[in-house]
Amino acid sequence: MSHPAFLRAAVTAVALVGAVSCGKKAGDDGKGGGTLKLGVILSLSGPFADVAKQIQGGIKTYMKQHGDTVAGRKVEVLYRDSTGMAGEVSKRLAQELVVTEKVDFLTGFGLTPEALAAAPIATEGKTPMVIMNAATAIITSKSPYIVRFSLTLPQVSAPLGDWAAKNGIKKIATLVSDYGPGHDAEAAFIKAFTAGGGEIIDSVRSPPQNPEFAAFAQRIKDAHPDAVFVFVPAGQQSVAVMKSFQERGIAEAGIKLLCTGDLLDDHQLATIGDAALGAISTHHYSVAHDSPENKAFLDAYRDANGAEAGLPNFMSVAAYDAMEGIYRVVQKLGSGKIDADKAMEIFKGMSFTSPRGPIMIDPETRDIVQTVYLRKVEKANGELRNVEQQAFPNMKTPAPAPGGEPPRPPGGEAKGSAEPPKEPAKGSAEPAKGSGK
Ligand code: PHB
Repeated sequence: MSHPAFLRAAVTAVALVGAVSCGKKAGDDGKGGGTLKLGVILSLSGPFADVAKQIQGGIKTYMKQHGDTVAGRKVEVLYRDSTGMAGEVSKRLAQELVVTEKVDFLTGFGLTPEALAAAPIATEGKTPMVIMNAATAIITSKSPYIVRFSLTLPQVSAPLGDWAAKNGIKKIATLVSDYGPGHDAEAAFIKAFTAGGGEIIDSVRSPPQNPEFAAFAQRIKDAHPDAVFVFVPAGQQSVAVMKSFQERGIAEAGIKLLCTGDLLDDHQLATIGDAALGAISTHHYSVAHDSPENKAFLDAYRDANGAEAGLPNFMSVAAYDAMEGIYRVVQKLGSGKIDADKAMEIFKGMSFTSPRGPIMIDPETRDIVQTVYLRKVEKANGELRNVEQQAFPNMKTPAPAPGGEPPRPPGGEAKGSAEPPKEPAKGSAEPAKGSGK
């Protein structure tokens, strides 16, 4: 770090710690307690606004069902717009929420760059930070005050690599978004698939923002794999990938689609249409999950958000569960000021039955342990659904390959960063040429 940059960072850190320790906590009435403030950072505008909408839908559902008061404290939700994969904006917002608003919890975080950038603020400001989606594995290691209620990409990708190797698939090409969760998905899938004897014949990475998938789809078709494994962030990009695959005739070429549930997000499935039929994915939540908790959640979601909001997705469920986690902590700590260390002790080992199935917060890592399901897209009563075929209970995040990411075929150069590239490459398959076929 240059001298002035170091000084600026040091001054900010001192100002932050000072402001937090001298100031009163949210809504402090002098007796401790008062309003409970939740500072929610989400991409409310821009290309990832779908992510924010699903998370807001989950928060709204929880509060409509459980009320806007907990332990006698009125819950105030302060939304802030990160505008997308802009770490600096998220960091500034986290700082404002902690220092000026004196929030009790930082939460939201649909995107990895938002979460990574805010992590030091949670540490310096001693504020619990509750992740509602951001899914790069390393996030919880970035502050002792982070807990995650969503998923990690290795957690859902490794079982799929293993399943593919055991189910007669020999050669696979991978396509992932070129930032943290994509790198994690690619590494975990490749590690499991190759350990089971499979071969990776091509690996491509698409720009995380505003990608164009036609060239990638063509390149995958030209590589003639048995299957393609895909991770892209849920929302607009899942629809775009599926459209390009359809236009390039991936299915007609005999290439099976394997992916994490992000690509076949329940909220987007009707828009994707029949092109999704038969696709195999692994994920932790499906609208089609058959349980009383999920039925109640789906009814409550519709009641809180209206039929026009459409179906919730995995992000809505994680937000709903994160709210349950926050309410439990506040109930345990009573009306007093939220002590971050005590809050984290309560989060550690917390377990309950979510609409997705049983979940637990690993006391060691503060990350989620949950059942991962293998699903197939089928039509039920004329509607497309991710129908569960197999369950992998108690899945933790698997350890990374020794020495980092596994070897990739020539052309798929690894960047190894959880942050998206500063200047997103143009949507072309060119940069990663030379498949190792
Ligand atoms: C992330 O940025 O961590 C992220 C975003 C969307 C997803 C999954 C992960 O569907």
